[in-house]
Amino acid sequence: MTIGIDKIAFYTPKYVLDLIELAKVRGDEPEKYTIGIGQDKQSVVPNYEDIVTMGANAASKIIDDTDRQLIDSVILATESGIDNSKSGAIYIQRLLNLSEFTRTIELKQACYAGTYGLMQARDYVAAHPGRRVLVIASDIARYGLATPGEVTQGAGAIAMIISDNPKIASINTDSVYMSAERADFWRPLDRTQALVDGHLSTDIYKEMFLTLWQRYCTKTQQTISDFSGFAFHLPYTKMGKKALDEVLDQATAEQQVNLMEKLKASQQLSRQVGNIYTGSVYLSLLSLLSYSDKLQSGEKIAIFSYGSGAEAELYSITLQENFTEYVPRKSVKQLLEGRQKLSVSEYEAVFNSQLFDSHVNVKSEAVSGVTQFQFLGWQNGERV
Ligand code: HMG
Repeated sequence: MTIGIDKIAFYTPKYVLDLIELAKVRGDEPEKYTIGIGQDKQSVVPNYEDIVTMGANAASKIIDDTDRQLIDSVILATESGIDNSKSGAIYIQRLLNLSEFTRTIELKQACYAGTYGLMQARDYVAAHPGRRVLVIASDIARYGLATPGEVTQGAGAIAMIISDNPKIASINTDSVYMSAERADFWRPLDRTQALVDGHLSTDIYKEMFLTLWQRYCTKTQQTISDFSGFAFHLPYTKMGKKALDEVLDQATAEQQVNLMEKLKASQQLSRQVGNIYTGSVYLSLLSLLSYSDKLQSGEKIAIFSYGSGAEAELYSITLQENFTEYVPRKSVKQLLEGRQKLSVSEYEAVFNSQLFDSHVNVKSEAVSGVTQFQFLGWQNGERV
């Protein structure tokens, strides 16, 4: 049975910051941001949005009545959860009018958790043919004003429906994965911003990619020439190049040109959005499928998922017949082009208004008609 990604959707909030303007205000050279780090813009999240509204806004683009009948589980991956106890997936189940006979769960392991969710979904469908799983990866990457990580912030959500006979890509059962306790990036419970050693995190990412690549090649007897492209977790787009550089010399000169072209396609969306943690690797995949016109059905793409702390997984997908018809390229482009630009001082004000104690935070800025779902506050313990 073929199981994989049947539908995919992306949502990001309506505000955007130009990083050349940010560089000038921070006293940095713009090329450091746009070339050295590889980021042009970042989405800025207003205080009436959180991982629940972003996840529901993404999923609402793809859920239809058939999905409502066939979805048995909602798996929400996030590291920007709104509650230490209750899963954000329960709110999303209600917002999407899914059946009450649905499992709902929230997963956490930094940026890696979306991939774990996807693998759980694939295994569930394998054991329950005909049923579907909704996987959502939703996050707000927040490092703080004038910190080294600021240029790599972002916000957004990816939603995917996992089913048999998928329209976009099958998920192959060839994963290799690893976990090792590392102190590169973490966010203790009392903090709204991550603690991070950015250079260490980049090194661990590269090390884990190389280790898993070698393990994958040994396990599957495949080489780099078996892949038409890579989708990397992209905390910033230069990270994808740093990773690919680790293995590129294994390819012929012609393959190298092709893989670099595909890498560029995979970076387009993250360049304009920033890091969305759990969803970033799937934003990279969506970008590759949207911006490369050279991909063919039957071709394989290698996916590398990394989450600080640290855990990583490498696996492949195979593109399905007519997959391009189901890639929401046009609507994603419209979403990004429709964002409202903020000046640096406006961005700072929006950033500081993101009070994370949402039980006491009165959401002041909700604007009707902007997004389907907004968070207005709490009334008698109910989220409204
Ligand atoms: P930094 O120290 O400000 O930057 O932080 P830098 O001095 O290292 O410079 C960055 C690059 O710009 C360098 O290139 C410079 O040479 C270049 P590189 O050596 O890396 O190839 N540069 C220029 N290039 C062109 N023109 C210029 C110029 N000036 C300098 N004028 C850092 C950068 C990414 C470390 C920082 O933004 C950060 O800490 N980010 C957050 C952490 C992060 O994203 N880590 C990535 C790996 S960990 C991960 O992916 C997990 C994560 O998503 C979290 C999770 O799992 O939950 C983060």
